[in-house]
Amino acid sequence: MKKITNIISLMAIVGSVAIAVTSCSKHDANSPGVEYMPDMYRSPSLETNSFSVIKNADGSFDTVQTNRVPVAGTIARGFLPFPYAGTPEGYELAKQNAHNPLERNEMNTKSGEELYGKYCVHCHGATGQGDGPVGGKLPGPPPPYTAPDKINMTEGELFHIITYGKGLMGPHASLLTQEERWKLVLYVQHLQHPDGMAKVVTDSVPAKEVKVKAKVKKGK
Ligand code: HEC
Repeated sequence: MKKITNIISLMAIVGSVAIAVTSCSKHDANSPGVEYMPDMYRSPSLETNSFSVIKNADGSFDTVQTNRVPVAGTIARGFLPFPYAGTPEGYELAKQNAHNPLERNEMNTKSGEELYGKYCVHCHGATGQGDGPVGGKLPGPPPPYTAPDKINMTEGELFHIITYGKGLMGPHASLLTQEERWKLVLYVQHLQHPDGMAKVVTDSVPAKEVKVKAKVKKGK
């Protein structure tokens, strides 16, 4: 009986000492206290784009990026590449070869009109005459889309200009998705050819006229 009492009192003493040791540290709300198995809470998780040290088979060490750099030519899901650079050469190539992936229909042209009202009208004016309130204040206001040397710009050329800008006009690549830019191309062509005719340039065949089906209210 005495032995059991001794064991109980020993356990009580050990317990009290343990509590005393763990509870009397300076109070810090962020301190996790004593961690019995730190590996359980502090897993070696790696942050994206951070670096970590790896041990090679030969015992040497290397510092590597935690996430792998994508293979050259990798395309993000849902992203449509536009392979023409913002250079005069890229401009010429886009002019000849870039084509609108969107169908020329009323819905797409109408969306183009809405975007035009948000991103372009203040410079280019409602009918694309370059008479928007901001356009008039520029040292060189934008020329009308229907100017003789502008009216037959190809769709690739229009897309390149909207994407990379031109002269006083800034690039719009970061403001508009590619789809939105192609919709704007449809609408600019509609402003150029309100009677429903738009030039379409194909790779092999010389420019040919196509009937524009979209019936979008002019102006506004
Ligand atoms: C800050 C005013 C401004 C805004 C906003 C702007 N543009 Fe322009 N844009 C210009 C100017 C100025 C030019 C003439 C550039 C040059 O040739 O130097 C121009 C040229 C163009 C051209 C080529 C025609 C030409 O004159 O060579 C097209 C096409 C065009 N803009 C379309 C758009 C579209 C579409 C939008 C809306 C996404 C837009 N622009 C927004 C000022 C603007």
